Amino acid sequence: KLPYAEPFRIKMVEEIQQSTREQREQWLKEANYNLFNLKSSQVFIDLLTDSGTGAMSDQQWGALMTGDESYAGSRSFQQLHETVQKISGYQYLLPTHQGRAAENVLFSVLVKEGDVVPGNSHFDTTKGHIEFRKAHAIDCTVDEAFDIENLYPFKGNIDLAKLEHVYQIYPKEKIPFCLITITCNSSGGQPVSLENMRAVKELSDRYGIPIYFDSARFAENAYFIRQREKGQENRSIKETAREVFSYGVGMTMSSKKDGLVNIGGFIALNDEKIYRAASNFTIIYEGFITYGGMAGRDMAALAVGLNEATEFPYLESRISQVEYLGNKMIEYGIPIQKPIGGHAVFIDALKFLPNVKRAEYPAQTLANEIYKEAGIRTVEIGTILADRDPDTRENRYPKLELVRLAIPRRTYTNNHMDYIAAAVKNVFDRRDEILKGYHITWESEILRHFTVKLEEA
Ligand code: F0G
Repeated sequence: KLPYAEPFRIKMVEEIQQSTREQREQWLKEANYNLFNLKSSQVFIDLLTDSGTGAMSDQQWGALMTGDESYAGSRSFQQLHETVQKISGYQYLLPTHQGRAAENVLFSVLVKEGDVVPGNSHFDTTKGHIEFRKAHAIDCTVDEAFDIENLYPFKGNIDLAKLEHVYQIYPKEKIPFCLITITCNSSGGQPVSLENMRAVKELSDRYGIPIYFDSARFAENAYFIRQREKGQENRSIKETAREVFSYGVGMTMSSKKDGLVNIGGFIALNDEKIYRAASNFTIIYEGFITYGGMAGRDMAALAVGLNEATEFPYLESRISQVEYLGNKMIEYGIPIQKPIGGHAVFIDALKFLPNVKRAEYPAQTLANEIYKEAGIRTVEIGTILADRDPDTRENRYPKLELVRLAIPRRTYTNNHMDYIAAAVKNVFDRRDEILKGYHITWESEILRHFTVKLEEA
């Protein structure tokens, strides 16, 4: 048997720069200990996000050159529309400038004050758009997701009892839809099984509640279904994705992930009335309905990207690389969410830094230590990200306090993965010396993690 190798070769490279520990300590201080405030030149390996940070293929760059920039009825829109129809089975398409814009447009139609939206660990902008409308997101993720050692293969699944409880205690008019996020970013890039989606659909049908998908990483989710679900191993990714979408009535998409482009998003759905209403909001917030904030060339590149992202060899190389990094960490004894997720490795900061108080943000503390160690930028998925409770204004302490190492698509090599694992191991080896975290000196009302200012505790 031959070793595994990537199904692509590299045609263009971008230089990245090393720095010294002294420089990084100074830069971090100037950034108010918030990694979002760093300049990219101060970062050696950037694992802040897998969103919009991947490499496009030669086919996508080619498509950019032939994009059609017509304000209305662009040919590139047609190409994208046909591709989305083929992949999702949904009839109508509304492009938007990115995923949260799709949420803004769709929720402007569907979500009202006092509503509840059940789902599996909503992403922060999704929750933000729900709470901004004085509605509530209710997390119905299975309990297995919150035990990092539990090897349950579909930790993105929705707990049917939790969901039915929501359906029973709230009147139907207060539940505009159930939202399934594939893969579930907040629980660690964890997939949702086909079986679970079927069951959620059956239950939701009984209560008359429609299902929408937050499908930023739908192709990675389909890959996991193929790898882990009985009877799915011989199906193509496109076939599986199509079945997934058949259990819902529509989707929001951040094209910056499984669209393999640097910017873009869309809504796809079947209901004409909702499409008409959402079209008005698209025009107000985004642009005319055949571009919605995207350049024609970007829609053309996205049409190609969606096709590439739903091919098995691409997904195998993508997810194997994340697995490679995760397995190294496991080998070093570092506590990470298992099984390893699709787009990122998630470190359990409470287990990694048991000496740092919860109120001093252990995950942020660990992310900052990893940056100081090796110039690697990661992101806190913990208490800072969880924001304050909109009613009590108290800190919300999530069940897990995580540091996410998100791997951009087709961007870094496995040598980078070795470097990252070694850097985290160095921090792990001196974890007993890390006793203090940070205090917040300034924060915004909502989505505070992007701009929060911190000081050393
Ligand atoms: N839904 C999910 C599951 C996401 O992960 C994101 C973005 C969005 C929606 C919003 O999409 O960024 O295009 O507006 N996630 C990025 C991340 C930012 O780092 O995980 P967007």
